Amino acid sequence: MPPAPPAHSASPQAVDPARLARIATLDWDALEAEIRSCRACRLCEKRKQAVPGVGDRRAQWLFVGEGPGAEEDQRGEPFVGAAGRLLDNMLAAIGLKRGEGVYIANAVKCRPPHNRTPEADEIAACLPFLERQIALLQPRLAVALGRPAAQALLGGEVRIGAARGRLHAHGELPVVVTYHPAYLLRNLADKAKAWEDLCLAQRALESRSGND
Ligand code: URA
Repeated sequence: MPPAPPAHSASPQAVDPARLARIATLDWDALEAEIRSCRACRLCEKRKQAVPGVGDRRAQWLFVGEGPGAEEDQRGEPFVGAAGRLLDNMLAAIGLKRGEGVYIANAVKCRPPHNRTPEADEIAACLPFLERQIALLQPRLAVALGRPAAQALLGGEVRIGAARGRLHAHGELPVVVTYHPAYLLRNLADKAKAWEDLCLAQRALESRSGND
């Protein structure tokens, strides 16, 4: 009998080189279609629909969340529930608006059952989609909202408390890590730190623009 794969490795289908090569060539519409029909990990089994992402396809800002919740699974758009309303307020606080210069995606595109945290192998299986979104979008800066998003963008284990407050990178793309809006709804005291992180992100983007 072949040895069992490690608990967190992506499925053979997810890492199939032909799949990865195909995803890396897709345009926006083909990418969304591929995401909607994806069966590369167990999250496809319970989803109502996959949630590819939403926003301005020429955006400078990319916000990456964890994964769709119940309302997102129902409506097919990221961050439309209570956490989404806080995210919209966070965007407004730095002069941004959903859909205008902003693209919003998630580390996993299908809802984890009971809103559990996505597993590392599920994040790995979905990563080629996020990579392709980044390649098509070419944002100036990404904000990782919460730990799964930070893990998708930075790789490995990340603790938000330790990683926030400074600039990271995903290849050439500057990344700021901050708390997930759903966490902030439960931990109001950390809102001030999220505000600092957004200001850091804004400064980083401005200085990138200034250097061009
Ligand atoms: N939380 C997320 O991380 N993403 C969503 O789309 C909704 C809630």
